[in-house]
Amino acid sequence: MIKIMEPRRLKLAILASGRGSNFDAIYAAIEKGDLSADIKILISDQEEAPALGKAVKRGIEAQYIEPRNYKNRDEYENYVVSRIKEHNVDLVVLAGYMRLVGKVFLDAYKWKVINIHPALLPAFTGLHAQQQAVDYGVRFSGCTVHMVDEGMDTGPIILQSVVPVLPEDDEESLAGRILMEEHKTYWQALQLFAEGRLFIKGRKIYITGT
Ligand code: GRF
Repeated sequence: MIKIMEPRRLKLAILASGRGSNFDAIYAAIEKGDLSADIKILISDQEEAPALGKAVKRGIEAQYIEPRNYKNRDEYENYVVSRIKEHNVDLVVLAGYMRLVGKVFLDAYKWKVINIHPALLPAFTGLHAQQQAVDYGVRFSGCTVHMVDEGMDTGPIILQSVVPVLPEDDEESLAGRILMEEHKTYWQALQLFAEGRLFIKGRKIYITGT
């Protein structure tokens, strides 16, 4: 069993491609004192991502990095990692980051890249997870905070929250219900790192002190 990290006030890098409501929720939890962390930098691969403007307003360093300016994914990730390393961060938090993370990232931050997915993994990986849940006819769905590995939404699971799927649900209504849980679950998972309560054995994460 390997301890993921000792207790500490976390230094976070956030990667976001879009509106950044999970970024909002993490920021709010820090402001309230519920999450012991500081957001050191927010990076986006989308110039128009609202998350960038939100970061600037909050006095957080924000940078748009255009992947097409790099020869390949490794070169793009090398640059992103170099920017993150300048801040000596403990965790890289994917908050609506719409790219698969590659080897460069994972070698630099083993078990330190975290994602939230809007389904109860391993069900409904990839895009439109909420539509997949509606189409399949499951009675419950939810969100999963997990460590990122080479696969798509396959890494070790830290926390999950469950919501009901109602007969009249469509993708949008279910996404809204799940999002409310995401906003509570993501910072709670990060706080487990801050409290030094996470251990890993194989692909299984153990939480101590509960
Ligand atoms: C969330 O549903 C998250 O689960 C998924 O992408 C969406 C991001 O939303 N990975 P936001 O940008 O945090 O509002």
